[in-house]
Amino acid sequence: MKKTIFGGILFLSAACLAQAQDIPVYLDETKSIEERVEDALSRMTLEEKVDVIHAQSKFSSPGVARLGIPELWTTDGPHGIRPEVLWNEWNQAGWTNDSCVAFPALTCLAATWNPDMALLYGKSIGEEARYRKKDVILGPGVNIYRTPLNGRNFEYMGEDPYLAAQMVVPYIKGVQGNGVAACVKHYALNNHEINRHNTNVIVDDRALYEIYLPAFKAAVQKGGAWAIMGSYNLYKGQHGCHNQYLINDILKGEWGFDGVVISDWGGTHNTDQAIAHGLDLEFGTGTNGLSGHTGNAYDLYYLANPYLQRIREGKVGTQELDDKVRRVLRLMFRTVMNPHRPYGSMNSESHYDAAKRIGEEGIVLLQNKNQTLPIDLGTVKKIAVIGENAIKMMTVGGGSSSLKVQHEISPLEGIRRHAQRRNVEVVYARGYVGDATGEYNGVTTGQNLKDNRSPEELMAEAMEVAKDVDYVIFIGGLNKSSGQDCEDNDRSGLELPYEQDRVIEALAEVNKRLVVVNVSGNAVAMPWAEQVPAIVQAWFLGSEAGNALASVLMGDVNPSGKLPFTFPARLEDVPAHNLGEYVGERRKDTVNVAYKESIFVGYRWTDKQKKAKPLFPFGHGLSYTTFEYGKPMADSQTMTPDGTLTIRVKVKNTGNREGQEVVQLYISDKKSTLPRPVKELKGFRKVRLAPGEEKEVQFTIDREALSYFDDQRHAWIAEPGKFEAIIASSAEDVKGKVAFELE
Ligand code: BGC
Repeated sequence: MKKTIFGGILFLSAACLAQAQDIPVYLDETKSIEERVEDALSRMTLEEKVDVIHAQSKFSSPGVARLGIPELWTTDGPHGIRPEVLWNEWNQAGWTNDSCVAFPALTCLAATWNPDMALLYGKSIGEEARYRKKDVILGPGVNIYRTPLNGRNFEYMGEDPYLAAQMVVPYIKGVQGNGVAACVKHYALNNHEINRHNTNVIVDDRALYEIYLPAFKAAVQKGGAWAIMGSYNLYKGQHGCHNQYLINDILKGEWGFDGVVISDWGGTHNTDQAIAHGLDLEFGTGTNGLSGHTGNAYDLYYLANPYLQRIREGKVGTQELDDKVRRVLRLMFRTVMNPHRPYGSMNSESHYDAAKRIGEEGIVLLQNKNQTLPIDLGTVKKIAVIGENAIKMMTVGGGSSSLKVQHEISPLEGIRRHAQRRNVEVVYARGYVGDATGEYNGVTTGQNLKDNRSPEELMAEAMEVAKDVDYVIFIGGLNKSSGQDCEDNDRSGLELPYEQDRVIEALAEVNKRLVVVNVSGNAVAMPWAEQVPAIVQAWFLGSEAGNALASVLMGDVNPSGKLPFTFPARLEDVPAHNLGEYVGERRKDTVNVAYKESIFVGYRWTDKQKKAKPLFPFGHGLSYTTFEYGKPMADSQTMTPDGTLTIRVKVKNTGNREGQEVVQLYISDKKSTLPRPVKELKGFRKVRLAPGEEKEVQFTIDREALSYFDDQRHAWIAEPGKFEAIIASSAEDVKGKVAFELE
């Protein structure tokens, strides 16, 4: 005990005073979280318990004021910290201190294929959340990319469960290291937006366990996620937010999740199911999740008065309630009641730097004929930039991930800044008018994009500007308006909107040095791909968009992103559409969508069909340098059931500039009782190589990499027999194979 004598009076330090006053166990940091939870629980009245399991405002739930247990504040997520909204409205509150850094969309993060970038992302966004006094980030999203029409793919991590699982874990660790919970969403099977509240997904257990759940499982078991958000859709006739199978049986049962299941906003529909089927914390009831608010009082929530009434009438006991409250308290001790969590920071140089680096690493060079890129600013005089997405702000819109940023560098601005350094002139023409709006929940871009010129006039101007410059950079793609890359709706087709194809084709006629930059979170059709020498996939890159893009185009940074999903040549090449299992019109009744393609999603389908050559395959991405692969070798020809196998391959940079290559390991089961994909991603490494440098890349696998989910036995099975380890630089570019046998 520290005693200080001051002015003849004896003072005790604050901690000692607390001790002397008999600090309650729930506030005693020397006790374990579980002890504190039990103690807090024992002090709460029934009413207080019911209070803490539902919202009190759009984004917060109450604490227990009497006991000094604070409120819990959530925020979207997943690309930056959402602006403050009014207490009970979606509309922004109009604060002037809530502008944030927008990080690149999660598709871009996945395209880095670099878990270090995911850690950096999580750490940075967690710091921003912390500074804004948020306890839970509503993200990241890991729903599998099943159709390119899904308006929300940009918030997710692509089509492959292994890639998504590897990338989500460090994101969560980065966030939670700040004492802020990651709330991984949307659990589960929310793979399109149209009819998201009334789609009932029918999927076999193999696809569920092998494709749609692994990233969530990794988030829970490897990432230690403290919260999971239930999804809007139904599975086996029950909504995702209170689903016996997904939540109680799998998440809490099989995986041992000890965190909180938070409902999606407006995703709770029934008190009895919410009580019994695992929902812990109800948010957003009485809204459609996005724009509408019906004035529903928080006391009327399914897990509020109706629950209380059932308990008082003896219709239900308090066992489920105590479990929910324990989980909520545990979350509070991990976050808002953790006095040691850092303070966080916002809009710091390091966050902008992180946003830029992640953007630069995620940009994918899809095509580069005649080494059109990079643009050597030392040898050019004039560049034309064409297209709406060169100037349109993309951080506003898209639904709940919409942000209010301190700044967003547009592609045009980024290119201009870069070009200026070498006195290269940059001219701009719009080329087409797509979407001139720029407002979301009261946050406006401040841009006036109205342009009343006719398509002919716009086209004529673009041709005039493009015809005698050294380079033409067309920057188009999708945007964040409804029907594009935006929540609560899907796209109507694979093609680019606003007749951009016409503009691109015309540009290809007038200038041979054409670069097309596609800004989107989704695959788009590119009927002009043959005529365009260079194509770049640029995603939604956030605050540093223009700077990151310009660094890649001008060669300051050598691109190293790889596609986290397949770019199909045609929509019919996507199994959901090929099999007619996608409902594109808005309906009021329950819509059954059967995932008949089962485990054959993305490249697994492409491999199976053989004929459907994609426009650009999963895992594809070029560099300004070249890599040569050696022959892969395994350390043994056999693997024992409990053993491991190491595969080694040498990769050499054979070009004349430094670059990074993503070496991919796929496993192929040569013969099995149940049908299996031709190959499946089971490892990847991003290696940086100086010109001429060679490095050996190693992958050590165990039986998990060889297993499939046997739905009859409800177990993961690695069947003895012949396998192949395939080393590749994309799903279509195989560099070598090693055969081995599982004993
Ligand atoms: C979305 C969630 C989001 C929530 C809160 C819902 O509409 O589906 O992803 O976190 O709103 O904004």
